[in-house]
Amino acid sequence: MTPKVIKTIAAMRRQSRQWQREGRSIAFVPTMGFLHEGHLSLIRKGRELADVSVVSIYVNPTQFAPGEDLDKYPRDFERDIRLCAEEQVDVVFFPSNEEMYPGGYQTFVLNESLSDKLCGRTRPTHFKGVTTIVAKLFNIVDADYALFGRKDAQQALIIRNMARDLNFRTEIIVAPIVREPDGLAMSSRNKYLSPVQRQQALVLNESLRRVEALWREGERDLDRLKKEMATAIESRPECRVDYISFVDADTLENAGDDSKKILLALAVFVGNTRLIDNTLLQR
Ligand code: PAJ
Repeated sequence: MTPKVIKTIAAMRRQSRQWQREGRSIAFVPTMGFLHEGHLSLIRKGRELADVSVVSIYVNPTQFAPGEDLDKYPRDFERDIRLCAEEQVDVVFFPSNEEMYPGGYQTFVLNESLSDKLCGRTRPTHFKGVTTIVAKLFNIVDADYALFGRKDAQQALIIRNMARDLNFRTEIIVAPIVREPDGLAMSSRNKYLSPVQRQQALVLNESLRRVEALWREGERDLDRLKKEMATAIESRPECRVDYISFVDADTLENAGDDSKKILLALAVFVGNTRLIDNTLLQR
């Protein structure tokens, strides 16, 4: 069945309250649309967990800096609705900018410890926009579960901590990275890549797999692993490293000898398109 499309905050709140009166649990997947298998994996997991499912489609302007791809971010609402129908999504929340940020808007949510690390170095205002919109969406949808992808590991961690710090009742679930058959992590932004760039973008996943293999063999020299990755990536003419970081998976501080769970995260410009990927290394 085609999902119900709700465009106003008031109507979304009414819908959630009605479900709650009926004793039905709600799973929520926030997205910016142009859905792919990564998003659909979250939707499916939500359907397993809860009685009803809500997907939001909203390209949030406050998480884009001037000069980033807000205006050309890919959109295909009809296709998104078709995919949501196939996944038996009950409601698609599709608000306008006027609805989310009316004139006089002035309040933001900021994680003061993690927002300037990793992606925050190149995108200093990004996570403030993410936490703000997700806090607003959590208040509006009032879900039992919200699902996020590990593809955006820093985002997932920041949201988990926000939900804890601000006492949201919504339980945060983080799901694995979904990849194309050749290993490229799925992303709406993959659409920007030319065929040559698409081919060269495989180096992100390949270099992560290579480090995992060396790690399994016992290599622990993080500088050496990093150099090896950088060399592999920069050998592709279209690719330029933004960052390669080995950090503590909970604090995002540089990994030390005592870090039990290390997040290896990287961002690479492939042409003008910035792609991210990551893996977890366990000691
Ligand atoms: P968007 O990029 O549309 O992603 C929505 C959700 O899908 C995020 O939780 C993201 O981590 C997850 N996702 C994307 N690609 C994935 C993949 N290959 N495998 C698994 N999960 C994947 O992230 C955002 O939107 C926005 O920042 C948002 C949270 C909606 C706030 O505006």
